[in-house]
Amino acid sequence: MPDGPLLALDDLATGGFAAAEAPVDGSVEALILHRDPDGGVRAWLNVCPHAGRRLDWAPGKFILSKDGLLVCAVHGASFETVGGLCTAGPCRGESLRAVAVAVRDGAVWLA
Ligand code: FES
Repeated sequence: MPDGPLLALDDLATGGFAAAEAPVDGSVEALILHRDPDGGVRAWLNVCPHAGRRLDWAPGKFILSKDGLLVCAVHGASFETVGGLCTAGPCRGESLRAVAVAVRDGAVWLA
């Protein structure tokens, strides 16, 4: 089990996404990290509520729509990046599962 940071903050561009892995509820899970334009960092499980697939098209490569939505690469479900709610696509109304993270010492950590 990793006990270091998930990612250096410098590796997460403002408005961008990154992938990480971390223990959540006792098993290692793939995570999506997102840095808000205001500098805050959010994380969700990298598991689409539609069919349980990863959202990135290659590890750490996520699609951001021109409307600022995170788009699942598999079937195109679109998620808003504040609460992780799916606003369009096959799982509309469902949400990504949030994971608590914190920024400390220039890095992102599980909270
Ligand atoms: S698995 Fe994400 S939209 Fe189908």
